[in-house]
Amino acid sequence: MSRFIGRKPQAEVIEEFATYVSSGRVAVYKALDAAIVPGRREGIYLYDLEGNRYINCRTSGGVFNLGHRPPRVVAAVKAALDELDVGDHLLMSEQRAALAHRLADLTPGDIQYTTFASGGAEAIDIAIKLARAYTGRPKIISARRGYHGHTGFALAAGSDFFKNKFGPIPPGFYNVPFGDIAAMEEMVDDQTAAVILETIPAVGGVLIPPDDYYPRLRQLCDERGAQLILDEVQTGLGRTGRMWAIEEWEVVPDILVMGKGLSGGVYPMAATCYRPHLNDFFEREPFSHLSTFGGADLGCVAAMAMLDQITEPGFLEHVQAMAAQFADGLTRLQRRYPDLVRDIRQRGLFIGLELPDDSYGMRFTAALARQGVIANFANNFPATMLILPPLIIQPEGVEMVLAALDRACATLA
Ligand SMILES: Cc1ncc(COP(=O)(O)O)c(C=O)c1O
Repeated sequence: MSRFIGRKPQAEVIEEFATYVSSGRVAVYKALDAAIVPGRREGIYLYDLEGNRYINCRTSGGVFNLGHRPPRVVAAVKAALDELDVGDHLLMSEQRAALAHRLADLTPGDIQYTTFASGGAEAIDIAIKLARAYTGRPKIISARRGYHGHTGFALAAGSDFFKNKFGPIPPGFYNVPFGDIAAMEEMVDDQTAAVILETIPAVGGVLIPPDDYYPRLRQLCDERGAQLILDEVQTGLGRTGRMWAIEEWEVVPDILVMGKGLSGGVYPMAATCYRPHLNDFFEREPFSHLSTFGGADLGCVAAMAMLDQITEPGFLEHVQAMAAQFADGLTRLQRRYPDLVRDIRQRGLFIGLELPDDSYGMRFTAALARQGVIANFANNFPATMLILPPLIIQPEGVEMVLAALDRACATLA
């Protein structure tokens, strides 16, 4: 008998959630036919409170890259609880220093320094603050349909859909279409502090840029003195079969932001990593961004254990092999349902399936849940289903997901 899970029947939990947390969300889950409450969770599986099993291909955007409760991370945090706590954010920290050192070794080019955050949006805010403070310029350029989080500057850099309700939004934020270098050339000027992009926009629908996009954007930013910020909150840490998605284009951003999977799904943690020139600002103003829980000692221990696992020989090769199996299966799926599966966009286990129009996103999400797979549509491009399996998925798991996708297609076709 669990001490935490299933103390009340699922229907009662749903009512309690609707009454005390969010009536609106519960209404949406019910409309989606996906009103399930996660209970037991282990590896690639999530069980609801009635014991139904699902493969988690949402992975919360990569939080569960190593599956649920990855044993090595859980063991590290359990051991750390005997000696550590969150730490004092105003003081130094052995754990934060060691993790930042490790990230400097793993991030592209000469990226060296890290400021930690407790979530992705805060880490994006840090990146934007740093670019503005360093350059003394106001303009931030981001992609239409982009998503960087729901708070502060991160919200301002995201799509109109989320931010319009909360005006006035801070000035200085501009959108251009993703992947369009001519639009960037027109927009980036001597007042531009930074261009900020998800390397491959996720909730925008897994958009893959033209081959020369990032090299040309890097050059443009250099010529005009703008900082290049890449948001790898979803694409980083092995998701695309590379440590960082940007490695495909051999470009080094000035600032790289990571979160979600960074601490194995057991502790909130995100990080803003940057090149040495940007440290000029924090050297002068070392206390100008504070975060009580950002870089908590326990989170650093979790992140180290997670990094130990994904940097083991063979880990990324495994992701690539599972990605190839998905690619084969999805090509077959598209052949069987050409009117339904309009496009497949994939890098590693970062997969977007484009359906005929926006109305299909919700319906496919519900149909797939009925087939035992949790995944969701891309919020800023709802015709696209996001399929983000745990990176530890094995060939049998891939076949199960492919079979569920086939059955969901059959239902909708
Ligand atoms: C690409 C990207 N950036 C930033 C964020 C914000 O992260 P958080 O929800 O941890 O604030 C998200 C969250 O989904 C994201 O997908």
